[in-house]
Amino acid sequence: MNTVILPVNEYSLGQSKKIICGGGAVAFPTETVYGLGANAFDNSAVENIFKIKGRPNDNPLIVHVHKDYDLSLLVKDIPDYARALSKAYLPGPLTMVFKSCGAVASAVSCRLGTLAIRIPSHEGAQRFLEYIDLPIAAPSANISKHVSPVTAQHVYSDLNGKIELILDGGKSEGGIESTVLDCTGEIPVILRSGLITREMIEKVAGRCEQYFLKDGERARSPGMKYKHYSPNCKTMLFAFNELQDALYEYEKSNAEGVTAYLLCDDKTAQIAAVDKVLKLGKDGEEMASNLYYKLREGEEKARLIIAVAPENQNGVMEGVMNRLSKACKNS
Ligand code: TXA
Ligand code: MG
Repeated sequence: MNTVILPVNEYSLGQSKKIICGGGAVAFPTETVYGLGANAFDNSAVENIFKIKGRPNDNPLIVHVHKDYDLSLLVKDIPDYARALSKAYLPGPLTMVFKSCGAVASAVSCRLGTLAIRIPSHEGAQRFLEYIDLPIAAPSANISKHVSPVTAQHVYSDLNGKIELILDGGKSEGGIESTVLDCTGEIPVILRSGLITREMIEKVAGRCEQYFLKDGERARSPGMKYKHYSPNCKTMLFAFNELQDALYEYEKSNAEGVTAYLLCDDKTAQIAAVDKVLKLGKDGEEMASNLYYKLREGEEKARLIIAVAPENQNGVMEGVMNRLSKACKNS
């Protein structure tokens, strides 16, 4: 299959509609990362997405809709706090999980009985979703476990030959996936942290909890149990107070002829003062925006990426740290 990259315009939207309505998949930009979308009502189209990515079939997909889509067609029992959060932060990088009406294909939610809904703010994503006017089931447009794509080129390098069309909407500025929030209970529960932070949710909903997977427990958001976001080279993660150990690994590796790069925030880069550095930025937002871009740049150059966690890990940094530790996980 020949894979083409096209800007978002009348022609490419027409092509997208043909592909999606014919049971195929199209990659499209969002403000977080690129998605790989299929018609959420079409079970075999959704199953095909799992095949293309090599994704485990118990890890459910998020359904994307345009801002005027009638959510009561898809989900029920939307609590008041979720309506308030929608008003405050949508369209935007917040995915909310509700009880499903059972309207979408069973493969979308892996029979969980719930459905994750996302209304992206990216202009290209909105145009795509409005033009097609169907709920679009879409995971990130990478091969399963690899770093999520934030440019059309990243999607191409993972999925070339496997899909027909990639809509190019420039670099995804958010840089890490949406916050996933369970809205099926009395209090919202963060299942995956992201750009809409716990503090932002608490401000609107009053309360908010964070879900942590305990050993042996069945994951409420199955994506949490898998290795993720990993570059195709060796990675090591060090805490801020372990910078000397990280620098020791850096020197040792480069001396042995294994090219190592240090991945860190700007302040740590300044202290470390080494040549081979991938700088992520000065704060959580900048670091999120650059994280996957730099991990992909790093895997091209390095055989070892040594990541150093920044000192401050609040707000958006929670999401960045979650991705960094998964990228550096060994199983
Ligand atoms: O920003 C994003 O969310 C991107 C863009 C493309 O929209 N999408 C994305 O999809 O990150 P994916 O498939 O890579 O991650 C979806 C996450 C997984 O952790 C999955 O387990 C969780 O959402 N999820 C999906 N449906 C769920 C449900 N019904 N209940 C709990 N978790 C769910
Ligand atoms: Mg993903």
